[in-house]
Amino acid sequence: MDPRRPVKTPPRHVKLKWNSKECGLLGAVAVQTVIGHLLEAEMNPKSTLSIAGHPVHPMLVPFPIAFFVGALLTDIVHTQSDDPFWPSASSWLLGAGLISAILAALSGLTDFLGEARIRSLRAAWYHMLGNVALVAIEAFNLWRRVADGLDFVIPMGLVLSLVATVVLLFNGWKGWEMVYRHRVGISDK
Ligand code: HEM
Repeated sequence: MDPRRPVKTPPRHVKLKWNSKECGLLGAVAVQTVIGHLLEAEMNPKSTLSIAGHPVHPMLVPFPIAFFVGALLTDIVHTQSDDPFWPSASSWLLGAGLISAILAALSGLTDFLGEARIRSLRAAWYHMLGNVALVAIEAFNLWRRVADGLDFVIPMGLVLSLVATVVLLFNGWKGWEMVYRHRVGISDK
């Protein structure tokens, strides 16, 4: 720093003078903001992906649920029947379940990322991790069936279908907890 350079004096503080009209306006804005925040805290966490107020996620989840439980049922029938129709039906059901699960997961993820209050719920994290595990189990289940054929179906395929159904029940429990306990996606009207 050059010692010969004059030191600049800092600018004097400008005193703000508000007239009564401006004060009133500022007060009204502050009150409105506080009321807005209070009202928002009272409202239910919103579903980001919805059509005319109807959350999309609950419309999609019956598909993977039905397909995966269907695969367990056709595996069980296969334990009693040598008809190749049953293991083939299981594989198709697993494939359809995986495609519909990915669509359901994307819609659920949109709601999860769209609202901080949903992300703050422990049930939402369990639900998400449980569903990632579900998709991984069923993807492995289908992959081994395609690679190893009928040898894999009994008992390993059947066991995996059973485990996936238990995980599905856990995930449903957590999903319903979000909706029926924490009112996620429930209309405020
Ligand atoms: C196979 C995949 C999935 C299935 C079968 C599934 C199933 C469910 C079920 C049964 C509910 C309760 C719905 C109701 O009764 O109204 C639910 C709600 C919910 N799920 Fe999932 N879920 C899946 C994936 C995900 C993923 C990956 C996320 C991301 C975190 C997620 C986030 C949510 C949220 C935020 C709700 C609250 C309701 C809503 O936002 O619509 N879901 N899910």
